[in-house]
Amino acid sequence: MLKNKHIVVGVTGGIAAYKIPLLVRELRKAGAEVRVVMSEAAREFVTPLTLSTLSNNEVVVGTFPRERSNVLDARTWHIDLGRWADVMVIAPATANIAAKLAHGYSDDAVSTLALAVRCPILVSPSMDLDMWQHPATRENITTLHEMGYTVLPPEEGELASGLRGPGRLPEIGRIVDAVDELLSLAKKDLAGKNIVVTAGPTYEPIDPVRFIGNRSSGKMGFAIANAAAQRGATVTLITGRVHLPTPKFVQRVDVETAAEMYQAVARYHKSSHALIMAAAVADFTPEKVSSQKIKKESGQDSLILNLRRTKDILHEVSLKNRKSALIGFALETGNNIAQAKKKLKEKKLDLIVLNNANEKGAGFDVDTNVVTIISKSGKVERLKKMTKYAVAHEILNRSVKFLT
Ligand code: CTP
Repeated sequence: MLKNKHIVVGVTGGIAAYKIPLLVRELRKAGAEVRVVMSEAAREFVTPLTLSTLSNNEVVVGTFPRERSNVLDARTWHIDLGRWADVMVIAPATANIAAKLAHGYSDDAVSTLALAVRCPILVSPSMDLDMWQHPATRENITTLHEMGYTVLPPEEGELASGLRGPGRLPEIGRIVDAVDELLSLAKKDLAGKNIVVTAGPTYEPIDPVRFIGNRSSGKMGFAIANAAAQRGATVTLITGRVHLPTPKFVQRVDVETAAEMYQAVARYHKSSHALIMAAAVADFTPEKVSSQKIKKESGQDSLILNLRRTKDILHEVSLKNRKSALIGFALETGNNIAQAKKKLKEKKLDLIVLNNANEKGAGFDVDTNVVTIISKSGKVERLKKMTKYAVAHEILNRSVKFLT
C-alpha cells in the first residue's frame, strides 16, 4: 500500500525521536513520498537536516517557517500539506501532543497540521511509564480513540529513565506495518455513496425527569460513521444521547426517542445507498408520558407502567425502500446465531452483525468488540477480538457489494 503514497511524519519532543530518521528511511524504501513536520522540542533530539536529507524534502519546524521556501508557502503550508497527505503518522507522540490533539490546540507545527489534514492519523505514543499511566494521559488517549485517531500502543520494556514498563516506541517495522494497514483500511471505495448510520441508545420519557433507556455508549456506530467517512462516503450519523465527539466530515443528527429516530431515518434514508442500524432502539415506550413528575404515595409499594411497542425502524424501512443496503445489529446475551439469522430474515437485511453483551472485550462502553457477521447468503464469519474501528472496516468491507 505504501508505494507512491504521500506520508507526513510528525515528530514531537521525546527521546525516541532519535529513531525517526529510520522510520523515514523505511517508508521511502517502501516507495512512499515522505514529508516531515516537527515541533521545536523535537529539535532537541533529532536535527531537521537529518530528516530533510532522508526524506529528500524540506522539513517544517514550528508553525511559522522562518526560512524562505521554494516549495511550501509559509502562510498556507498546513493547508497544502493537509490536502497532500494520504496518511499522517505522529511518532514519537509525547504526552503533551496527546493532550493538545485531544483538546484541539494548534500551537506547534505537528498539532496545527493534525487539525488541518483530511486523512487518517496514526499516533504512536512514547514516554516514560508514569507519564503514560497518568490519568490525564489515559483520558486524552481515550479521547483520541473516540475522535477517530488510530493509536498504536507503546511497547513494554526498558525505558530511557531506567524504569521498565509500557512507554517504548514500537520497532520501526511495526510502525511501518501500522501505516500500511491504515492506508489499506482508508481506501476511497465509498466515494459518491450516501450512508446513514444510527448509534447510541434511545430514551423513552416516563415523566419530565425519568426515562427508560439502555447502556449503549454509541461507540460502535460512531466508529462506523468515522470509517465510512474516511473511505469517502457522505455520512449522516443519527444518534441518541451519547458522550462522544462527532467524527470529522460526518453530519450528525441528535435524537432522543425511538419515534424521533424513526422520523430522522425516514428523512435521511430516502437518498441513501445504505442504512447501518447500530443504535440500540427501545422496543417499548411508555403509553402515556406524565406532564408532572410522578410522586410516590405513602404506603405505595409498586408502580405499573404501561408500555407499547415502538416502530421497528429497520423493518419499516425494508418494507418501504428496498433500493438501499440494510445492515442491522443483533445484541444477544448468548452467542445466538439462530436468533440473529431470524432477525436478518424477518427484517430482510443484507447483513447482520451479532455481538454478545456478556462476552469479555465486547458490548457496552469498551473500545473493542467480538462480532459474528452473517450475510443473507447464509455465510457466518466470527471475527477475532479487535477495536471497534477495525470492526467498522470489516463491516464496511462486506457491505460494499450491496451498495449500488
Ligand atoms: N431495531 C430497529 N428498530 C427497533 C428496534 C431495533 O431498527 N425498534 C434495529 C436495531 O438497531 C438493530 C436490529 O434492529 O440493528 C436488532 O435489534 P435488537 O434489539 O437486537 O433486536 P430486536 O429485533 O429488537 O429483538 P429483541 O430485542 O427481541 O432481541
